[in-house]
Amino acid sequence: MNTRVTVKTLQSMKLKGQKITMLTAYDYPTAKMLDEANVECILVGDSLGMVVQGKTTTIPVTLEEMIYHGEMVARATNRSMVIVDLPFPVGQLSIAHTVESAATIMKRTQCQAVKMEGGHQQAAAIRALVDAGIPTIAHIGLRPQSVHAIGGYRVQRDADQLMKDAKAAEEAGAFCVLIECVPPDLARQATQSIHVPTIGIGAGNGCDGQVLVTNDMLGWNSGYVPKFVRQYADLRKASAEAVAKFMQDVQSGDFPGQSESF
Ligand code: KIV
Repeated sequence: MNTRVTVKTLQSMKLKGQKITMLTAYDYPTAKMLDEANVECILVGDSLGMVVQGKTTTIPVTLEEMIYHGEMVARATNRSMVIVDLPFPVGQLSIAHTVESAATIMKRTQCQAVKMEGGHQQAAAIRALVDAGIPTIAHIGLRPQSVHAIGGYRVQRDADQLMKDAKAAEEAGAFCVLIECVPPDLARQATQSIHVPTIGIGAGNGCDGQVLVTNDMLGWNSGYVPKFVRQYADLRKASAEAVAKFMQDVQSGDFPGQSESF
């Protein structure tokens, strides 16, 4: 199917109780594979700072880098909705700067939406993005760009704050709310209290959909794997075995063979 997933598709999935799937991609082949698998949403997350660039937080990721990866991902897709993260500190500076940066991302990557960390405090910026015609997802609960302000990657347990953020994001016009690292009952409560879909990560199964970092769920990362990740493959192990076999074949003179030669 080549019809692109839209904000209306996601809204109708929530109404019908159909779960939404979202995975991250940072390059053309991964995005193509996810698009062909009919994943509804592909997120070009600023998690690329950690899983692609090997940095310890998402904070150093730049606008240019988001555009560079977003452009490759969007080019690979026909069906999935492509969402590009606004990197730090785009959503935290002036509203004009936020809108200008998001518009630049949309124009240059050809993505369909952006994601911004923040809820109640960023409501005016979300409203300005939506008024400028930029479909926006609000990312609440644990906000990785605030890791230093909140003292680490911790489960967020403040129910009042979560409900306030979810409601403010919806009222400001966000078409979806992403909820990270909160207890399942809070995420479920937030999901039931708003009309737009929620996508959870480390937030239990009460959200309207789920997102994971693709590199984590495919077992491609070597470092720490968060508790909320389910690992569906071990690509790192399979790749290391393939590399070892290649080296062995070269060293033994078995590769290249006749069929691999001109
Ligand atoms: O940057 C990212 O990939 C994200 C997901 C972890 C939701 O925000």
